[in-house]
Amino acid sequence: MRVVIKYTFLVIVAIAIGLGVYVLSVKAGPYISSSHGNTTYGVNRSSISALGYSRGNCAHCHEQHASINGSEPAPSSGAPSNYALFYDNYVSQTDGVCFQCHTDTGSYQTGGLVNRSYSYRAGGWTTDTLNDILEAFSFTAPGSSHNLDDIKTFIDGRWGYTATSNPCVACHNPHAATGDPANAPNSPKSSTTRGYPIARPSQHSKDTNAWGLWGDDPGEKMRDYTLDYQAPYRYGSTTQYEPDGSTTQDGSNLTDFVTFCTDCHNTVDTIYSTTLARNLRTIDWTQEKHGLIDGNGAVSTDPPYDSVIGKVLACTDCHEPHGSPNQVLIRAEVNGDVLGGTITTIESTDCTPPYSDTNKEIAYLCQRCHMDDYDFNNLCPPNRWYYVHHSSASGDPPYWASSCGSCHASGGGPRGCDASVSSINCNCCHYHGSTDGSGNQTF
Ligand code: HEC
Ligand code: HEC
Ligand code: HEC
Ligand code: HEC
Ligand code: HEC
Ligand code: HEC
Ligand code: HEC
Ligand code: HEC
Repeated sequence: MRVVIKYTFLVIVAIAIGLGVYVLSVKAGPYISSSHGNTTYGVNRSSISALGYSRGNCAHCHEQHASINGSEPAPSSGAPSNYALFYDNYVSQTDGVCFQCHTDTGSYQTGGLVNRSYSYRAGGWTTDTLNDILEAFSFTAPGSSHNLDDIKTFIDGRWGYTATSNPCVACHNPHAATGDPANAPNSPKSSTTRGYPIARPSQHSKDTNAWGLWGDDPGEKMRDYTLDYQAPYRYGSTTQYEPDGSTTQDGSNLTDFVTFCTDCHNTVDTIYSTTLARNLRTIDWTQEKHGLIDGNGAVSTDPPYDSVIGKVLACTDCHEPHGSPNQVLIRAEVNGDVLGGTITTIESTDCTPPYSDTNKEIAYLCQRCHMDDYDFNNLCPPNRWYYVHHSSASGDPPYWASSCGSCHASGGGPRGCDASVSSINCNCCHYHGSTDGSGNQTF
């Protein structure tokens, strides 16, 4: 989105904060429409407002020579910071200029800032207690947060980013981002007050005016895929859908998060993860069943998916963008309800048949959209997966149940969900890019 330049405002800005050399870089249009530039709820650092600067003024983030009128307003960080920011652009996973305001307590933004998870905003899961961005980036094992050091390393030298770039600015344009919703700390997204917080890294420009937001324009929605997008339910509802609680289900109101996330997570770029201590698997969304190829034969999915094939999902249907109490940023609330437990371990310790690793925590996720045994037959226990693997009732089960011990490390008994076999770690066969023995995609 581009907005008409208003030079008068620019001149005032330039004089006010002495960033004259920068004046043509940041145009007033997108900035005054942004959350940060808003004069009612925008940036407002108390030590700057005390000097008479109005809310939304650039000086709440930028200070020439780290000082104004000869003294340095709080916080005092000694040497001038890059981009004349009031605090170092980036220090660590839990320290940097953005966290100086985006925290609910001890914030330099007057009153502090409450922010929410994606599950809260889009999922409508308003009992989630996570309430600021610092908290979202502070998850450590068994939870997870997008590792900002790794992102900083990854973007350095790409798309005009440099060694001094802020990793939050990989995904957000600080001079243009708008809230979704804005100025509503305790509300989920609403169809009447939409905003657009993100910008695509591959469209990044040092001229932040030229770096448009992502999701606001036609062609930037999940609806734009040829395959149908089916919106998940809102928390506790079967009539309201993500992301904004309206009855729209086709993704015409949802940012195309696939294109956004695959700027980085694609088949070309190798990404190292400090958290996982290895390179990430690459993702070819054109070859995945949750992506652009269809399930084969039958699928057994819960409402609102209703066992219909031909669907594309959004990355954020399953993942948080910042952090989560689960591994690999798996959302704690998916398709209308919270997961049945916490996902603390995904990778298997044994993927050689008969499989001795019985961990099936990851199935808490699958269960939110796929029919487990209980969904097929409510005499079966929940989170057992006999039907989709063994029963013709699921349409196309991949395995005939016999010689149980060739796959299950222990147990046996009558065919059915109540057989007392040990379970098998799902991740041995189900992960991004996984296939069965015959090349059939299994995720
Ligand atoms: C990998 C990309 C990525 C990175 C890195 C990232 N974000 Fe986000 N951020 C997102 C996405 C995606 C959303 C959700 C957008 C939506 O709801 O439409 C979001 C949402 C937000 C929101 C709005 C939250 C709310 O309450 O609705 C804020 C504020 C925010 N991010 C700040 C930050 C800060 C500060 C950093 C760095 C510490 C950061 N982000 C790093 C992708 C990212
Ligand atoms: C919320 C804090 C915030 C506000 C408010 C803000 N900026 Fe920035 N600005 C930043 C950050 C952070 C960077 C560094 C971006 C990066 O890491 O690439 C930056 C970078 C810049 C740059 C350098 C861009 C580049 O990459 O060369 C200019 C120029 C600039 N800001 C001017 C302004 C002006 C003018 C205003 C007011 C109209 C303003 N900023 C308001 C946070 C802010
Ligand atoms: C001086 C304080 C301050 C700093 C520093 C700051 N922000 Fe903000 N930010 C705000 C305020 C105030 C809002 C508007 C909150 C609202 O809507 O009530 C906001 C809103 C946002 C939004 C829109 C989503 C939302 O919460 O409404 C994003 C995205 C965002 N900030 C990202 C960043 C990033 C990334 C950085 C660091 C580059 C940063 N902010 C630094 C104060 C700050
Ligand atoms: C947010 C909902 C959602 C979640 C969560 C989810 N799936 Fe799916 N899954 C679907 C949909 C919808 C399809 C059908 C895709 C299509 O139309 O091609 C599907 C298709 C599949 C298929 C293809 C089946 C076939 O017959 O070809 C497999 C295998 C699968 N999912 C496994 C999993 C596993 C394992 C998990 C948990 C780790 C999981 N899914 C989590 C929605 C979901
Ligand atoms: C600017 C590049 C970039 C974008 C955009 C991006 N990521 Fe990442 N992502 C990374 C990097 C670098 C890592 C490795 C560091 C880490 O593990 O957190 C990573 C790691 C991950 C991981 C593994 C995290 C873990 O620790 O196990 C997941 C899951 C993930 N990203 C999902 C997403 C989703 C979903 C989106 C879109 C909402 C997204 N990413 C957008 C760069 C990016
Ligand atoms: C070719 C491999 C294979 C063979 C042989 C096999 N199974 Fe399975 N079975 C699986 C897979 C894969 C799953 C899905 C993982 C899971 O649910 O633990 C599964 C799941 C099950 C489940 C659900 C377990 C749970 O906790 O979710 C039961 C019960 C089961 N099988 C019974 C049997 C019985 C009884 C036999 C022998 C008569 C048998 N299976 C033979 C592969 C096999
Ligand atoms: C030994 C490999 C293996 C293991 C282990 C395994 N699965 Fe599967 N699973 C498959 C295959 C193969 C399919 C059939 C994919 C297809 O239809 O193309 C499948 C299908 C599925 C489906 C799709 C059902 C549908 O809608 O058509 C789900 C959901 C699923 N598995 C969940 C699980 C869960 C949960 C676990 C762990 C408890 C698990 N699987 C363990 C091999 C495995
Ligand atoms: C149906 C739910 C679902 C969807 C949709 C989904 N993911 Fe995942 N993702 C998972 C699960 C489950 C794992 C853990 C197993 C694995 O590694 O694949 C995972 C793992 C990851 C990882 C870590 C890979 C590694 O090396 O361990 C990344 C990165 C990631 N996802 C990114 C994405 C991106 C980007 C998208 C959209 C293009 C996306 N995911 C869509 C469920 C999903």
